[in-house]
Amino acid sequence: MSSNEIIDSSQGSPRGRAHWSSRVGFVLAAAGSAIGLGNIWKFPYITGEFGGGAFVIVYLGCVLLLGLPLMVAELMVGRRAQTNPVGAFQVLHKPGSLWQTAGWLGVASGFIILSFYSVIAGWAIAYVFKSLAGFTGTAEQIQGQFVALVTNPVQSIFWHTLFMALTIAIVAGGIKNGIERWSKILMPSLFILLTGLMFYGLFGTSGGWQAVSFLFNPDFSKLTATGFLSALGHAFFTLSLGMGAMITYGSYMERGANIVKDAITISILDTVIALMAGIAIFSLVFHYGMEPGQSVGLIFKTLPVLFKETGRWISVPFFVLLTFAALTSAISLLEVVVSYFVDRLGWKRVKATITMGTVTYLIGILSAVVSWQVSFRGQQQGFLNIFDYLTTNYMLPIGGVLTCLFVAWVMKEKDVQEEFGSTGLAYKGLRILLGYVTPLAVLMVLLHGLELLPFVSYE
Ligand code: TRP
Repeated sequence: MSSNEIIDSSQGSPRGRAHWSSRVGFVLAAAGSAIGLGNIWKFPYITGEFGGGAFVIVYLGCVLLLGLPLMVAELMVGRRAQTNPVGAFQVLHKPGSLWQTAGWLGVASGFIILSFYSVIAGWAIAYVFKSLAGFTGTAEQIQGQFVALVTNPVQSIFWHTLFMALTIAIVAGGIKNGIERWSKILMPSLFILLTGLMFYGLFGTSGGWQAVSFLFNPDFSKLTATGFLSALGHAFFTLSLGMGAMITYGSYMERGANIVKDAITISILDTVIALMAGIAIFSLVFHYGMEPGQSVGLIFKTLPVLFKETGRWISVPFFVLLTFAALTSAISLLEVVVSYFVDRLGWKRVKATITMGTVTYLIGILSAVVSWQVSFRGQQQGFLNIFDYLTTNYMLPIGGVLTCLFVAWVMKEKDVQEEFGSTGLAYKGLRILLGYVTPLAVLMVLLHGLELLPFVSYE
């Protein structure tokens, strides 16, 4: 029996499965998943917090040595199995295999990440409208707008509703007519907008070169162990790894495409966009003599104050591109969940999308109401923080480690080789990275999340 027949009998037919219509379509959709709030909202602020260049170098190293191999691994698992993450581990091992736990963790992470992601993305939409109206008043008043938005549940839930509705509408359209089509529209638009903003930062402000040197001139004295591990954790998050998103997108790939090449392209696009966003944002920050280390409020509190000076021509495109980036990521999160319910329970796509989108939406309300707090790790905290913490520090790293180990040690060697496309030096290198290096590195992120690393001080 060929492996395809095994797939047929246990996990739904790959023959009826939708596929990307073109390589460009797949690359744009996967890059769309990778490029998101992580690149435009999170990367600049954590880079600011950890002092710039040195953090960027470590982050680039993590993308290359750990992120890229894991992306290749996820795409290989998905394409080989032609099914959702839970089913994939069974198809490639055996029915009922314990490795399916990795898939379950992924589906659960999909619900949780999307639930709070949508709340933040909703703020981005709200800021498109605030930008259209224009930012006026004192710096305190402009920053106060953000606090007012976040602490007003009716408003937060309103924008969260709108964002989830858009996400559901796209995913309900399916692989070709929903996800791929919209990625082909949104990703190039995002790129054009960001290119414009980056050139404005470089040449239209006096902060351009300072921004470039902040990002590329390493000062290793500023890099703490925490910074190092955050770079690692962020490399996974920004490439959409550790929860089966790339397994799911890989399962819609045809045989024949070169997975390694595509993974390299996707990783480069993701990295370039993050760096471009960094240049665009820090140029403004330096031009107006602000501090780069503004933490979480960088985008929603600091930038709007600067946008008061630059005007709508800069602020509207910025928040539009933030919304686009978030949308193409959110659809990949929902797709993981939907693919499971379609493959396993035989639900129609539209039904699965609306039902699961609504469930995720309801969980998201927990994050949208910031006054709902519970005690977590000895502190009163909102659900958004708790969900972010649990997924980034535990669920994604565990999912990631399991996938690496699975490909390196459990999957049939022949399957891996065929998916990789060669058995040369690059292949051997990949096996070493997946079998040893990546799991060890991720283990460190995990222990760091538990505050258990011996060489870091957790005060
Ligand atoms: N990569 C996206 C970002 O940078 C977020 C994201 C989408 C994601 N799908 C994911 C993160 C899957 C982890 C896992 O914003």
